[in-house]
Amino acid sequence: MTNKPKDWVFSDPRLKEMKQDYAAYTEEDFKVWKILFERQIVNLPKAASKAYLEGIKEINFTADKIADFEDVNERLAKSTGWAIQVVPGLIDDDLFFGLMNNRRFCSSTWLRKMEQLDYLEEPDMFHDAFAHMPMLTNQPYVDFLEKLSGIALRHIDDKWAIELLSRIYWFTIEFGLIREDGELRIYGAGILSSAGETKYSLSDEPSHYDYNVRRIMNTPYWKDKFQDKYFVIESYEQLYESIPEIEAVLEDMLAEATQN
Ligand SMILES: [Fe+2]
Repeated sequence: MTNKPKDWVFSDPRLKEMKQDYAAYTEEDFKVWKILFERQIVNLPKAASKAYLEGIKEINFTADKIADFEDVNERLAKSTGWAIQVVPGLIDDDLFFGLMNNRRFCSSTWLRKMEQLDYLEEPDMFHDAFAHMPMLTNQPYVDFLEKLSGIALRHIDDKWAIELLSRIYWFTIEFGLIREDGELRIYGAGILSSAGETKYSLSDEPSHYDYNVRRIMNTPYWKDKFQDKYFVIESYEQLYESIPEIEAVLEDMLAEATQN
């Protein structure tokens, strides 16, 4: 990877030119978006991070209109310089990190059906848009994502390294909490798109630990049930500033792995 130019990902043949076909959304799609949006937005003023609440205004999402990526991209261009890249669903790790290393956030464009409102095997565009995109207006947060992806690309052929870095991604971008004015607030997208986990993650049921790079890298996660622990940052700058530590702890743990 080291000799590749930073923007190699855009000429990769696996990356298909895909666009959101807005006209193809059906009446049912608009209904599903509205139900999900209205159901979750009422929970967020007391639960979501300020960055998210400001972000969702800045990006102008509403219940009546499925997110339009062209509009999102115009707004992000003026905000943090990021953009949405439409992908077919799950893509190879190197493309995923390669895109984020070039300030492109991957999103699918399909929306769950009415009968799947509460359970999905794979994230749809409600998760990708409603939960992730507002946070892309926060500069230290996206800078963190760009640099974290850079580390992943340097270790892309090492499965263990990617697993350790995925734990960081998981316990921050997907399931991260932040302390604001002495209270726990959510910025992780996996929580923000789930009404059940929004309530649970802030309750006394799970454990809440201060953000700790080494501890996170030693913490496996699961995808099929709520986490039993969450990690709490003090600020998005703290995330960005932890990049050198992530790199150092990763080197440490990889060296340990080769000794054993
Ligand atoms: Fe996600």
